[in-house]
Amino acid sequence: MTDTPIRFDDGAAYERMMGIWSALAGEIFLGWLAMPKNLSWLDVGCGNGAFTEQIIRHNAPSAVEGIDPSEGQIAYAKTRAAAAAAKFRLGDAMALPFAADGFDAAVMALVIFFVPDPAKGVAEMARVVRPGGVAAAYAWDMNGGGFPLEIILKELRAMGLSPIWPPSADASRREEMVRLWTDAGFEDVETRRIDVTRTYVDIDDFWSAASGSLSLKTALAKMEPAQLADLKARVRVHLSEATDGRVTVSAFSNAVKGRVPK
Ligand SMILES: C[S@@+](CC[C@H](N)C(=O)[O-])C[C@H]1O[C@@H](n2cnc3c(N)ncnc32)[C@H](O)[C@@H]1O
Repeated sequence: MTDTPIRFDDGAAYERMMGIWSALAGEIFLGWLAMPKNLSWLDVGCGNGAFTEQIIRHNAPSAVEGIDPSEGQIAYAKTRAAAAAAKFRLGDAMALPFAADGFDAAVMALVIFFVPDPAKGVAEMARVVRPGGVAAAYAWDMNGGGFPLEIILKELRAMGLSPIWPPSADASRREEMVRLWTDAGFEDVETRRIDVTRTYVDIDDFWSAASGSLSLKTALAKMEPAQLADLKARVRVHLSEATDGRVTVSAFSNAVKGRVPK
């Protein structure tokens, strides 16, 4: 689609748009992992710490580390209540700044499709998780149309525009997840689809949140007012609007988990 690098530099804008979607899907993902309490966790690509906070609430871990290459996201994460119970630092999924076998669980929530070499990122999780521990990920099904803003991206493409697309979108397919986890040596590999629905107060709320999305903000900022009005009209045709104005949007992601052999 485009070679523009994707940089998550605004933790607050992320919170309003993707943070809410992340919370909805993250809860289902953690429920599916069904991990016991009191484990040590690594949150790879922790972003602004939204998902790290969910791990803390859901799994009462003994320790949590969060790493992310974005200074802006890590700075925001450090302001969260979760910061007291978690350590946040800069780092890359492909070169985790940790020794081998140090965690009971490692997760990537909405991250794998941004990692330039997903196989390297998965191999790194296999390295830092102890034998018998679990590594897991979930990601919007980009190629299957599961991204929460797919409805807008589709119309932008129809208008000949190129919204940002993650560099490793294929890694969000279930077959590819199974391949990545199997190739990295994990056992008991399982996948599932996660469906979520979000309701916006009205159409303005929908566009206001969407405009903060990294996938859209550059494309929208470059549009002429008439072109933007055209886009909004095209998208509205596909939106589910209730009589009281509320707008409901659905999205789906794929998840994978596997165990490091003992
Ligand atoms: C959509 S956000 C997800 C944040 C958080 N995990 C959540 O569920 O809300 C994607 C995150 O992946 C991070 N990221 C991008 N490339 C990465 C890489 N190579 N290694 C680790 N994280 C990366 C971004 O900086 C961003 O914070």
